[in-house]
Amino acid sequence: MGKIIAISNQKGGVGKTTTSINLAAGLGYLGKKVLLVDLDPQGNATQGVGAKSKANKLSVYNLLMESYQVEDVRVRLNVPPMDVIPSNISLAGADLQMNKFEVGKEELLKKKLDKVKNQYDFIIIDCPPSLGLLNTNALTASDSVLIPVQCEYYALEGVTQLLLTIRLVQQLFNPKLIIEGVLLTMYDARTNLSVEVQQEVRKHFKEKVYRSYIPRNVKLSESPSRGQTIFEYDVRCDGAKAYAGLASEVVKQNEKEVKYYG
Ligand SMILES: Nc1ncnc2c1ncn2[C@@H]1O[C@H](COP(=O)(O)OP(=O)(O)O)[C@@H](O)[C@H]1O
Ligand SMILES: [Mg+2]
Repeated sequence: MGKIIAISNQKGGVGKTTTSINLAAGLGYLGKKVLLVDLDPQGNATQGVGAKSKANKLSVYNLLMESYQVEDVRVRLNVPPMDVIPSNISLAGADLQMNKFEVGKEELLKKKLDKVKNQYDFIIIDCPPSLGLLNTNALTASDSVLIPVQCEYYALEGVTQLLLTIRLVQQLFNPKLIIEGVLLTMYDARTNLSVEVQQEVRKHFKEKVYRSYIPRNVKLSESPSRGQTIFEYDVRCDGAKAYAGLASEVVKQNEKEVKYYG
């Protein structure tokens, strides 16, 4: 049975999309069956894995708002090895449209993903930078949340709000939702600030913080414009090593959980 992980933080520019595409690809290259769901109207994840030109007209919007199923809208890629549910700007109006539904508006994504969960090892959802209904749909559909935290001033600002939202979703729609892990992104070892933020985040989230952290690495910001994940763009760079390390850590952690509970 696949594990569904939402990559969420309502703050923009903290590395959600970079983490979604490169974690998904890292898991794919480890031989896992991966589905990447782009839930941001900006479609950066779709572009970043090179699925934009391969996508037909159907997107995650049609999946959520119409009777289309995952099989109808997904794009199958060989490089990187994953399936993608693409997004585009049509999703921008979905929040308002969904809000008009009387019942079940928080469970639209869950209903569709549950049907294909057994086809995948991991389903990774790239969330939009807001705490609206799209984000609620992601959290309701997910087993866990991975929170990227950028190593900068006010890093934890906003995370408090996200934690409250997670608690609310747990109470109302998804009692099994857990925090998968907290990931430090754009870490710059030369600055005291990064070191301080790292200490603060580790103090706050303790063992929930991944040992892997993502360094600030220009290659990571260049690769999406080529429609390549970091593993096709420059597999030797520090960014690629960091995301490969994260993918291994996520796999190990989940194997442990299965052993522990099973
Ligand atoms: N580790 C990193 N090093 C350098 N640039 C990065 C890194 N992670 C993300 N970026 C860049 O920072 C910007 C914001 O990242 P992104 O993943 O799009 O954040 P979000 O999805 O949270 O808005 C993008 O231009 C991205 O290429
Ligand atoms: Mg993004």
